[in-house]
Amino acid sequence: MNAEDLKRMAAEKAVEFVEDGMTVGLGTGSTAYYAIKAVGRLVTEEGYELTCVATSLQTERIARESGIEVLDMNAVESIDLTIDGADEVDPSLHLVKGLGGALLREKIVAAATDTEIIVVDSSKVVPKLGTRSPLPVEVLSFGSDHTARKLRALGCDPVLRTKEGEAFITDGGNLIYDCHFPEGMDHPYHLEMKVNTIPGVVENGLFLDVAKKVVVAHPDRIEVLER
Ligand code: A5P
Repeated sequence: MNAEDLKRMAAEKAVEFVEDGMTVGLGTGSTAYYAIKAVGRLVTEEGYELTCVATSLQTERIARESGIEVLDMNAVESIDLTIDGADEVDPSLHLVKGLGGALLREKIVAAATDTEIIVVDSSKVVPKLGTRSPLPVEVLSFGSDHTARKLRALGCDPVLRTKEGEAFITDGGNLIYDCHFPEGMDHPYHLEMKVNTIPGVVENGLFLDVAKKVVVAHPDRIEVLER
């Protein structure tokens, strides 16, 4: 079984929680991709009537290609269930997200969601956040060097994300600093508060108390962790 099989298995397990008539949030990333494809099959092959919103422009495109109609976020009152990936999951089901660059829309969608289901392979499960992933922080381009200095003062090494030699630009038109904490993040609530009070910070990749369920694909089994 390879890494793609694990991602697909986690995603397809999560899609079992989708019911006909639901409003569904579609996540971003290579694991959420398999959930979008499975939701597409519910619509095109099983006749489910779903109302869907997307957490990124990339996801919107994949969803439409999969036969799913995607509504604007402002067209829905609330979301029954969102299936999204993550970069890290700790024992309290706190998450780091955003290596795919969609953390801002993902957090807005999650905040409007009743049941957030996270899909990961077992490599994403960590004892402490920051162990395998940096913390992505989305910042305005205006004064971004100053914002980065304030981030550094919190004890991390902020690295401007680039793509093909240029600064990576998010769907919201902003930059991302990937903040490496050498010892991981010991106090994520406190850190989140400190990060969010820096002028220029738009959003951060800490998703604390957001996941209701986490579907973990291990090589030999699927585990559903619940809050
Ligand atoms: C997107 O911005 C991220 O939050 C993704 O959900 C996360 O990076 C997981 O992506 P993969 O499933 O591709 O690892």
